[in-house]
Amino acid sequence: MGKSKKDLKFASIVSQDNAPAGEYIMPHTAPLYLSSTYIYESPEKAQEVFKGKEKAYIYSRWSHPNAELVERKIEQMETIDSKDLKCRALLFSSGMAAISALFQSIIKPGDSLIVQGNIYGTSVDHINHLAQQFDLKVYYEDFKKTDKIEAILKRDKKIKLIYTETPSNPTINCYDLKALSTLAHTYKTRIAVDNTFASPYLQRPLNYGVDFVIHSSTKYLNGHGTGLSGLLVGRDVAFMDKDAWTIRKLHGSICSPFDAWLLNLGMKTLSLRMQQHCANALAVAKWLQAHKAISKVNYLGLESHPDHALAKKQMKGYGGVLSFEMKKGYKAGEKLMKHLKFCKLTASLGTTDTLIQHPGSMSHYFVPKEQREKFGITDGLVRLSVGIEDVQDIIDDLDQALNH
Ligand SMILES: Cc1ncc(COP(=O)(O)O)c(C=O)c1O
Repeated sequence: MGKSKKDLKFASIVSQDNAPAGEYIMPHTAPLYLSSTYIYESPEKAQEVFKGKEKAYIYSRWSHPNAELVERKIEQMETIDSKDLKCRALLFSSGMAAISALFQSIIKPGDSLIVQGNIYGTSVDHINHLAQQFDLKVYYEDFKKTDKIEAILKRDKKIKLIYTETPSNPTINCYDLKALSTLAHTYKTRIAVDNTFASPYLQRPLNYGVDFVIHSSTKYLNGHGTGLSGLLVGRDVAFMDKDAWTIRKLHGSICSPFDAWLLNLGMKTLSLRMQQHCANALAVAKWLQAHKAISKVNYLGLESHPDHALAKKQMKGYGGVLSFEMKKGYKAGEKLMKHLKFCKLTASLGTTDTLIQHPGSMSHYFVPKEQREKFGITDGLVRLSVGIEDVQDIIDDLDQALNH
């Protein structure tokens, strides 16, 4: 017979939580579940849950309500265009954790990968580390040259994955997801795309046959720069539920409840933010293109961009990130960044405010210099993540800094 609440000692009262049972609680917005474990009404129930016969939360490293809320939303967003599309999403502690889980659940020692040469710097760094550790053969290629990719697929039967990123960071190219998926499947391999720059609002790669979609949801999906998170979305639900889920559980790389809660909050305004990011970025790109100090602007919304027609077909808009080359090279870019007052010098992107950075010395510093140069990540390239502020304030700041 347990003690009644009245008889408990001071230390016991403060140590335990008494859920307000039976009270009517129905929060309007999703609560934050800060609990590492979940309790069961009986040992029998606990046994069934651990055996997987009954569904319930077990331990927050495995899964928790704040992660699952985001995962179910993302699955709906990624498959909204067709009733036949199915997928499973898993939420991670960062974009890199999602990328890492994908590789860890697919790659075996001695395998080969075909990887786009111009992708996020830390993705390259990670792949190079894995290549050393697991004796992988990695082909870094220009993904416009599909004939070259096909020749590799014909020659090397150990290709486990084609890894692409579109729009690419920081060169802002668009790659043909349908053509690349067809190629991957013809040669019985799989294709993953990092969809961070587009977000599911602007591009839904499952429509084009892609097997895995990755998001650094730290960026547009969160939208406010308040937390880290990443998503791995897979078309093969059985693979996601078993292989990818097991890696996340064993590595402990699930997103924390608080970061998942912040992500869900940010996602609520994704559509509106993306529309404004796109409108502002186009206006800034046009203004930069006409400036005498700039030699080239990379923005998919410009009709002069070589990938404009493909982006128009594959995406719902052209995104909020652009990059540009200064006529006078890196020194001129450095001077520009020094004199900006409104735009912030920082490595991230996809927040409500405008962020500027230099890929060669910041986001892509860990990519070997010869690879950077081969794939267009020149020392003179500057990347701008255009925010949703009043666009005239962004242009005025760039103008005063360029005139210094
Ligand atoms: C395109 C892209 N993918 C992945 C990542 C990694 O995401 P995270 O920083 O959330 O680990 C980044 C980060 O900047 C990125 O820009």
